[in-house]
Amino acid sequence: MVRLSIEGRPIEAPANCSILQAFVHAGETLVEGVGCMGQGVCGSCRVIVRRHGEQEVRTALACETLVEDGMQVAFLDYFTEPERHVYRMDAIGDSWDALRTISEIFPEASHCRHCSGCDRACPKGLDVQRGVNLAVEGNLSQSSHVFDECVMCNLCTLACPEHIRPNHLGLFVRRMIGSYSQRPANLMRRLQQIESGEMKIDFDAPGARAPR
Ligand code: SF4
Ligand code: SF4
Ligand code: FES
Repeated sequence: MVRLSIEGRPIEAPANCSILQAFVHAGETLVEGVGCMGQGVCGSCRVIVRRHGEQEVRTALACETLVEDGMQVAFLDYFTEPERHVYRMDAIGDSWDALRTISEIFPEASHCRHCSGCDRACPKGLDVQRGVNLAVEGNLSQSSHVFDECVMCNLCTLACPEHIRPNHLGLFVRRMIGSYSQRPANLMRRLQQIESGEMKIDFDAPGARAPR
C-alpha cells in the first residue's frame, strides 16, 4: 500500500494502481473528470501531480499514472477558452489555400514564443510546439502526425501564453487533411444507406442522445 493525497484528502491505495483507481478505492464516486475510464483516450482525467521530494508540479492523466508514496494530486476542471475558432470545413477551399486559411482562422499561431509550455504540459509527450510551427509553415501532413495521439485534454491550451490552442489547431489540420483526401469507401457507402433510408437511425433509442 502507498499513502498519497488526492484533492487534499489523505488516502491509502495498492501500489500498482492508477490515481483514478486509487480515488475509487478510497470510496469516491467518479462523477466528472473521467470518460474512457482508463483507456487513455478521452483526455478527461487531467491532474496536476507533485511527487515526493520534487519541487516541480507536472500535468498527467489520472488513469495512466501510477500512484506513488507521498504523491499529491489535484484534478483540473474542464477548461474552455472564451474565444473559439469558428470555421466550416466545406468553405476552406483546396490545399493551395491552406496557408492563408490557417493564418485567417488561427492568426495567433504565428505568435508562438517557442517557450515549450505546451510540450511540458502534454501528458502524451507530443511535440506540440513543433506541430504548431509545422502548421504555420504549411507542412500539414507532418503537423497532423504530431497530433495523431492527441486526446484533446486541453492542457496545452491551458499552458499557452499566446492563447494559440495548439490541440484545436492540430484538430483543424487533421480535418483539413481529411477534407483534401479521398473519402473512405465504407463510410461513403454507409452515408448513402442512411440518406436513402436503407439504414434507419432511431434518434430516440436509449443512449442515442446525451443526457441534459
Ligand atoms: S496536444 Fe494538448 S490536448 Fe493533445 S494530448 Fe497533448 S496536451 Fe492534451
Ligand atoms: S505554449 Fe504556446 S507559445 Fe509556447 S511553445 Fe507552445 S504554442 Fe508556442
Ligand atoms: S479517463 Fe479517459 S484519458 Fe483518463
